[in-house]
Amino acid sequence: MSTPRQAGGMSNEALQVAAHRNLWLHFTRMSSYSAGDVPVIVRGSGQYVFDSRGKRYLDGLSGLFVSQIGHGRAEVAQAGARQATELAYFPLWSYAHPRAIELAERLAALAPGDLNRVFFTTSGSEAVESAWKLAKQYFATVGQHGRYKVLSREIAYHGTSMGALAVTGLPPIKAPFEPLPAGGVRVPNTNFYRAPEFAAHDVEAFGRWAAGEIERAIVREGPESVAAVFLEPVQNSGGCFPPPPGYFQRVREICDRYGVLLVSDEVICAFGRLGYYFGSQRYRYQPDIITFAKGVTSGYAPLGGMMVSDRLMEPFASGPTTFLHGVTFAGHPVSAAVALANLDVFEAEDLLGNVRANEDAFRGTLEKLGDLPIVGDVRGDGYFYGIELVKDKATRETFSDDESERLLRGFLSQALFDAGLICRADDRGDPVIQLAPPLTCTQEHFDEMEQILRGVLTEAWTRI
Ligand SMILES: Cc1ncc(COP(=O)(O)O)c(C=O)c1O
Repeated sequence: MSTPRQAGGMSNEALQVAAHRNLWLHFTRMSSYSAGDVPVIVRGSGQYVFDSRGKRYLDGLSGLFVSQIGHGRAEVAQAGARQATELAYFPLWSYAHPRAIELAERLAALAPGDLNRVFFTTSGSEAVESAWKLAKQYFATVGQHGRYKVLSREIAYHGTSMGALAVTGLPPIKAPFEPLPAGGVRVPNTNFYRAPEFAAHDVEAFGRWAAGEIERAIVREGPESVAAVFLEPVQNSGGCFPPPPGYFQRVREICDRYGVLLVSDEVICAFGRLGYYFGSQRYRYQPDIITFAKGVTSGYAPLGGMMVSDRLMEPFASGPTTFLHGVTFAGHPVSAAVALANLDVFEAEDLLGNVRANEDAFRGTLEKLGDLPIVGDVRGDGYFYGIELVKDKATRETFSDDESERLLRGFLSQALFDAGLICRADDRGDPVIQLAPPLTCTQEHFDEMEQILRGVLTEAWTRI
């Protein structure tokens, strides 16, 4: 059934009626809106977005780790419009179009080492799916048919399509879809705040242990059966786990020793989130594949992809061998044009420089919250932080499922939103609040985040 439209779009009331009746939100408990309004964001400008009633919010999560350059950038939108007028669509199946070529060349120049080949997708899940498929077909092509398994870390999120979900390390979101493709193997993540006792006071020892667990898993599974290790530079899910010093260098050595591919899943960490075009550049390791999405267009159009080394391309570069994979909208001309315009903004405004210059101030401002009894840990790098909430700071005791449900779903998410801050209260690991604002943010925005968080977290403590 359709809802009456007004000039300039639906009225507020009509939007609510149709949203309740016809729209299905992702990863959302729909019943939580049965008695209340669905939040409707109608416009954005810079670091802020506005809802259908005109209320302003600081976008502390860049939408969903996406809006690196901020909202409402007409020049990027116009690049997309120009492209749609010139050539709205053509596939990358057997043909190319100029924007995909230009973007591939530009990304290759920005990427670390010999990651010269870009395979576009439309999303991060498709990028992860593509990387696993390429790893499997690559090994089959070079005669190592047994290599199909993928190692990834506990609680890590790598996407929702069946293959990407098999790589994901979050049992609750996998359970309804089992059996998933075979071969997903879990290894420990780098949550130093929750490190095992024997490594709890030495971050380098912790890193050696966590990397060593990857080697032990490869040996246990049988190296001849392992295709790839998927790791984010900073693991998002669980609340921003940066790598301990030396961790990635060790992982690189381990991968080389056993002939396993190192996939850097940079769907969140690329394009300035950590002050570099790619997170692997910040932590100085060379991946065999980088997966990306989100910030490549700052969300002005959807795009994802993987960048692979010349070595991986080689078996496909001559003779009849074809990578048997593709999606209709991958590398869409409008998205590619938008990505190029997005990268122009990065350069013109030195966004990487802005993140590097201000990240300590951002961290310092968030660390002020450490005086609150509920704040256990503030961690992250660049413009990417997690604040872990605890019941007892001294013992680091976390909340029970029931308390977490009451605190995060019952209070915090809504209270932060009502207070004008878009961020994420997440309990896929221990309860955390995550922040990943546009890369244009400066001290005034850090202060605004801190003040809103201080008020809401103080109130939350009284409700436990
Ligand atoms: C590290 C990582 N990989 C993959 C994905 C999946 O990306 P998408 O939601 O675009 O499919 C995400 C999404 O947040 C992610 O954070």
